[in-house]
Amino acid sequence: MNSVCNRTSVETLEIVKLGGEILRQKAVPVTVFGQRLEETVARMIEALDKAQGVGLAAPQVGIGERFFVVQIKGEVPIVFVNPSIIETSPETVACEEGCLSLPGSYADVVRPSAVKVQAFDTKGRPFTLECAGLLARVVQHENDHLDGILFYDHLSELKQKRLLEKYEKIAKHKPGRKHR
Ligand code: NI
Repeated sequence: MNSVCNRTSVETLEIVKLGGEILRQKAVPVTVFGQRLEETVARMIEALDKAQGVGLAAPQVGIGERFFVVQIKGEVPIVFVNPSIIETSPETVACEEGCLSLPGSYADVVRPSAVKVQAFDTKGRPFTLECAGLLARVVQHENDHLDGILFYDHLSELKQKRLLEKYEKIAKHKPGRKHR
């Protein structure tokens, strides 16, 4: 299910797990703003709440379009449509990341500590946001999803191999587990 249209009859958005092809595809820009997009975003925020995550990108719910939502605990959710990171800080920081598409897997990823993002809201209005701390981290992780990049791609080959082996073990033995 690759389009918003095909999903209208689905009650809860299912999160695509590792192995889903859409996770490795480059998403296309959003061209239609407004109600339909807003409805999809609302359902993504619901799914994000349910999964207790901090960010969710459209490809993770089977939609190959360039948008994602970020919801940091205690703050209002922010939607980024057709985002582009226009500045990154020279300083980098290592921080543990996980991904709703790889439940149970975590790794330290090094990224710029601050970024400046240009994006549109669901109505097509442009905005620019300077992000630092956890917001910068989540924005970069979700933005990667739009280009088919997963957080472990930033690790060394050896660390990638270890993470994937561990993930396969978890996925095999605990199919119905709860995850963040
Ligand atoms: Ni992710």
